[in-house]
Amino acid sequence: MSEPTAPATGPAGLRMRPSIAAIQLYRPSRPAAAAAGRRVAALASNELPFAPAAAVRDAIAQAAAGLNRYPDPQALALRERIAAASGVGVDQVAVGAGSMILLQQAVLATTGEGDELLYAWPSFEGYPLLASLAGAQAVAVPLRDARHDLPAMADAIGERTGCILVCNPNNPTGTLLRRDELAAFLARVPRDRLVVLDEAYREFVDDPGHRDALTLLDDFPNLLVTRTFSKAHGLAGLRIGYAIAGPDVIDAIRRSHIPFNVTALAQAGAIAALDAADALQRRLAGLSAGRRRLTEHARALGYPAVDGYGNFVWLALGERAGEVGARLEAEGVIGRVLAPFGIRVSVGSADDVDHAMEALARAAAAAPAEQAG
Ligand SMILES: Cc1ncc(COP(=O)(O)O)c(C=O)c1O
Repeated sequence: MSEPTAPATGPAGLRMRPSIAAIQLYRPSRPAAAAAGRRVAALASNELPFAPAAAVRDAIAQAAAGLNRYPDPQALALRERIAAASGVGVDQVAVGAGSMILLQQAVLATTGEGDELLYAWPSFEGYPLLASLAGAQAVAVPLRDARHDLPAMADAIGERTGCILVCNPNNPTGTLLRRDELAAFLARVPRDRLVVLDEAYREFVDDPGHRDALTLLDDFPNLLVTRTFSKAHGLAGLRIGYAIAGPDVIDAIRRSHIPFNVTALAQAGAIAALDAADALQRRLAGLSAGRRRLTEHARALGYPAVDGYGNFVWLALGERAGEVGARLEAEGVIGRVLAPFGIRVSVGSADDVDHAMEALARAAAAAPAEQAG
């Protein structure tokens, strides 16, 4: 993952930055069973299995009538709504076309050629891409027991560290870092280095004892928290996410906004989604039940299923991830294989969960899962 030495030549002999020329195109998981005309559960992208609420669709349809105009470049109404929902000031909120773009802005603002981007691994697959886009060197600190090894990450911070990404709950393992662990880590990070806490899955955390990471902002002004409407709010296709930090960090992030960075449809839809919080709570309760059902079933079959807090289940299969993933795919269950670490299976509808449970049982019968761990 270090800066490649290959010639800076891309497709059609185009002169390119080496770190960009070396990037592999994103390959979405391919629903092979669909082609064979079989029932398929697309469980590779941690999407919500429900259509957006009617109120959200109505708000988007209404906003569509004004699409001849550019959107509000400040996204003020949305930022005010997020600020109110999060208990922070509007100058502490930035929005972007998906939280991934805000992560990219954070990385580009802090980390350039010759710098290091520090994160845990395996974690979100977008992080190595961000390192390449910045021309930075990726420093990937192995997880310990499927969790971020925060002391090892703190040890890995050096002169060249530009930015540190922490994913909580971690995608793909689902494990959760507690507020006191994060505080102890942040206390070891130099105050001039940005720490980004990627909370794409925070709404799925159903532990009543879990404390909001925003309570860390007063003590750690170098912390930026990113969140998204793509996961729990079920608006992945709308492309809208947000970041919360102290006003100075938000100012730094907003400097690299592309003008009109969030569409009018996304601004309207996200406001309506925040207004529909009650419906969200009901849906999340159903997904938590599905996650527990799938986790317990997998474990009973002998799979090394990790207790997680996202809308997905992690099977820590190691080297056998590819083989088990192929068996599941043959059964019409498309998970995300992260070789050589494991398989992540999203929690879909109750039917999808049933389908995944049947597929796991058949895969275990074909090759006893005890050997798979
Ligand atoms: C951990 C994590 N962060 C960020 C993202 C990006 O989400 P979006 O750009 O849709 O907000 C994802 C998407 O899968 C994710 O899993």
